[in-house]
Amino acid sequence: MEELLKEQTERDLSISLDFLGNWKRTHNCNELRLSDVGTDVILMGWVQRRRDHGGLIFVDLRDREGITQVVFDPQHNAEAHRRAHHLRSEYVIAVAGKVRPRPEGMTNPKLATGEVEIIVHELRILNTSKTPPFLVEDRAQVGENVRLQYRYIDLRRPFMLRNIRFRHEALQLTRRFFAQHGFIEVETPVLTKSTPEGARDYLVPSRMYPGKFYSLPQSPQLFKQLLMMAGLERYFQIVKCFRDEDLRADRQPEFTQLDVEMSFVEENDVMGIIEDWIATLFRELLDVELEIPLKRMSYSEAMERYGTDRPDLRYGLELTDVSDIVGKTEFKVFRQAVENGGMVKCLRFPGGVKLSRKELDDLIAFVQGFGAKGMAWIKIQPGQWQSPIVKFLGEGAQNALAERLNVETGDILFFVADQQDVVNEALGNLRIHLAEKEGLAANSKFRFLWITHFPLFEWSQEEKRLVAVHHPFTSPIESEINLLDTEPEKVHSRAYDLVLNGVEIGGGSIRIHRKDVQEKVFRALGIDEEEAQGKFGFLLDALQYGAPPHGGIAFGFDRLLMLMLGVPSIRDVIAFPKTQKATCPLTGAPSEPEVQQLLELRIRIETEE
Ligand code: AMO
Ligand code: AMP
Repeated sequence: MEELLKEQTERDLSISLDFLGNWKRTHNCNELRLSDVGTDVILMGWVQRRRDHGGLIFVDLRDREGITQVVFDPQHNAEAHRRAHHLRSEYVIAVAGKVRPRPEGMTNPKLATGEVEIIVHELRILNTSKTPPFLVEDRAQVGENVRLQYRYIDLRRPFMLRNIRFRHEALQLTRRFFAQHGFIEVETPVLTKSTPEGARDYLVPSRMYPGKFYSLPQSPQLFKQLLMMAGLERYFQIVKCFRDEDLRADRQPEFTQLDVEMSFVEENDVMGIIEDWIATLFRELLDVELEIPLKRMSYSEAMERYGTDRPDLRYGLELTDVSDIVGKTEFKVFRQAVENGGMVKCLRFPGGVKLSRKELDDLIAFVQGFGAKGMAWIKIQPGQWQSPIVKFLGEGAQNALAERLNVETGDILFFVADQQDVVNEALGNLRIHLAEKEGLAANSKFRFLWITHFPLFEWSQEEKRLVAVHHPFTSPIESEINLLDTEPEKVHSRAYDLVLNGVEIGGGSIRIHRKDVQEKVFRALGIDEEEAQGKFGFLLDALQYGAPPHGGIAFGFDRLLMLMLGVPSIRDVIAFPKTQKATCPLTGAPSEPEVQQLLELRIRIETEE
């Protein structure tokens, strides 16, 4: 290995590099065809591959557009051929030569330029490259840390380049679309005050005011509302948002939103313009014609049928409430759950009789990971129901189950009994898990769903108080405003989320535009007047100077692209993402500041002994 490295270093040193000089590229590496034969060209790019063949040297020359084969022939130009021996992967070169057809049988139909090659008159070696940590090829198997550390090499791979260009197209199209529909693009501050969207803030210490901090915005929510109060009427922005939360495949600490706000509108106006935009993106970029208007479902229906407010509609496997049927049977687990104010739901999984004991145990352990205490099952065998619990059910309950669930031979029925949230969490996730195991989602591509009619608040077990399901600026349904003081948990909001294939890609609402209503909502959230003034005084002030009715929405732009491209992670559509652990292997961020910087900020770091 050392020998090899030494040899390579020597070789690098022995190569005299050339300057580009006055050479200008005449074509890109995806351009030349048979009709160009005889043309003198200059190409520039990276060495994808070098092959020595009986005196001839072939190089696959790559630029961002594609690959062209260039040939070095000692008969044609001995000097260029001699120097071509030095070329290695990822060297940067320029070649001048003539286009010629490839010999019979040597054409490559997989390559757009596969019928021609360039016979080189002159080679300029513009730079060498160390042996890259992985091949610049789609099929290279590389760990993510290495990919991110050498992101500039990773991005050379056609797959990544395609994603980045697709993102560019989507950005351009989006800007054009909203500008054409009368939206004004406005940039909002990055050094600002906290905007509550349910995550932790990233803080930036102020040097001028030691002990004070700016927050990076979790979203431009309050600024876009202020823009409506400023009379802009239609705003949009493609904007970075920052959230310090636990990361997943579809979450990054900094991500991009398409952010939109409109005045004098109700839900259908916002949803309509968004559907128009999404349909345009899918038509122009994927050649997919979406059926507009997109399907809608209420929050409560989604929770009931799918156990989640972001159901993946590419497959069925719906949940069914069977509390009324099994809650009065001999089976104690079911009876007690219902008696204690909980419920029993069933997931019918066709073909499930094939599951082995071990597989069933694994599935039970799976739902226990989501808080279920256990999971009962019944296999529908020909002529009989097989299960440890069937003897407790009785014939009446069996018949009622068979009818409600449309039971068929070969099914397995899964039951979870518990409080409603646990049941939904457990069976909702089991549903996704089974669909993944069976590849049920593969048949259909894009299933959109608007979720509407959310509750305004939910109970936070952690904080022991009501919290906003969306954010505290979301308008309650007007006819329910009077419940805010008495039964706030019953109030619904004017919020809407858009779900694509089980991923929440966007969310928004009609906002509160009256100070008295905003104050009521703060009160229901346990935010007293002093706290409200301290945190959002500027908003409460602005609400008193002619705030128009308004509403809007924000999209996770990275998530949308991830789904459009069918890639597994939003990291694949972001040029320089963070790892799952919120680090950047390329730059080494986050890193320790200089002592001087900390002194200026009057910050002392406490390290654990
Ligand atoms: P919300 O918090 O729902 O709403 O965010 C809008 C959309 O942003 C995406 N998203 C994320 N994408 C990647 N990484 C993350 N960490 C992340 N967090 C959220 C989701 C989500 O649907 N101001 C409100 C919108 C409004 O009311 O107009 C807001 O930010 O796709
Ligand atoms: P046990 O009473 O714990 O022996 O459980 C009897 C059966 O009920 C087993 O098949 C358990 O998996 C199942 N079971 C236990 N708890 C629950 C629950 N909360 N919901 C559904 N089934 C359960």
